[in-house]
Amino acid sequence: MTGLNHRRLGRTGLTVAELGLGAMDTPHSPDAVQTVTTALDLGIDFIDTAREYEGSEHLLGEVIRRRGGKDFAVASKTFSHSISGSQYDIDRSLKVLGVDRIDLYQLHDISTPQSWDEVMRDDGALAGLKTAQYRGLIGHIGISSHNLDILELAIASGEFETVMLEYSAFFPATGLLIELAAHREVGVIVMRPLGGSGRTSTMRGNMAAGYAGPLTPANLLRYVLSNPGVSVAIPGARYPSRVVENVAIASSYAPMTNAERRELEDAASALY
Ligand SMILES: NC(=O)c1ccc[n+]([C@@H]2O[C@H](COP(=O)([O-])OP(=O)(O)OC[C@H]3O[C@@H](n4cnc5c(N)ncnc54)[C@H](OP(=O)(O)O)[C@@H]3O)[C@@H](O)[C@H]2O)c1
Repeated sequence: MTGLNHRRLGRTGLTVAELGLGAMDTPHSPDAVQTVTTALDLGIDFIDTAREYEGSEHLLGEVIRRRGGKDFAVASKTFSHSISGSQYDIDRSLKVLGVDRIDLYQLHDISTPQSWDEVMRDDGALAGLKTAQYRGLIGHIGISSHNLDILELAIASGEFETVMLEYSAFFPATGLLIELAAHREVGVIVMRPLGGSGRTSTMRGNMAAGYAGPLTPANLLRYVLSNPGVSVAIPGARYPSRVVENVAIASSYAPMTNAERRELEDAASALY
């Protein structure tokens, strides 16, 4: 077992390793089961999926069956904005995952004022999640968004125990929201901590060509984990080797100084 640090996931009562796994693209790999199994065997205990991610819930269901039960926290999401649609999605997630209860269920990508209004109505998706929580089908309720104003509303509303937001040296703008969330005891799940697959592919190419600058996946992960307001970072991975590398980094990193953070942000903004 590795030395991953654990952090509280806001006021959910859950404590999870600060390095999780984003399983959005994991199914698109012949090594998919091995990737998830490696993550779990190395101490990762929080995995993000969604109804919308093709094959991802099926993959996690397969891993849960092979392990003889669920020994990690699963977070899934609904794209539906309606009460009935969100409840239908939860039922589907439960069946596909093969579990009686999902630890965290999130409203997925609520990034326009219209979608916020729709999910928050009396007959909106949040009401569906609350009913499912009351019935014991889901443990906690969260929201993901790419819109800073909506994230602020969600944190202030008191309705959500977690927010999923983008945060990295490429996208430091959510830093203040992370502080606000920590103040309100809202758990912070960081999506795209490495800047996304396009940028990491460019970085891997640069490194293979002998690049010796600060912009590396290892430093990007350090950047996110150095923020104490972050609950869990969920880098995506299709291959076990990425998971092994990320666990090694998260098990041994030194928190970044402010000067290192600024240097990485500068290098990130120069990439694209
Ligand atoms: N709610 C939303 O709207 C939303 C939107 C986007 C993402 N998300 C969540 O956030 C998670 C992560 O986002 P993401 O996958 O878009 O971006 P990311 O985590 O920033 O980057 C993933 C990319 O980094 C590569 N990678 C991982 N570890 C690496 C390492 N140590 N060295 C080199 N490359 C490495 C992966 O490679 P390989 O795949 O080749 O292994 C993949 O191409 C998703 O899985 C999903 O759960 C949520």
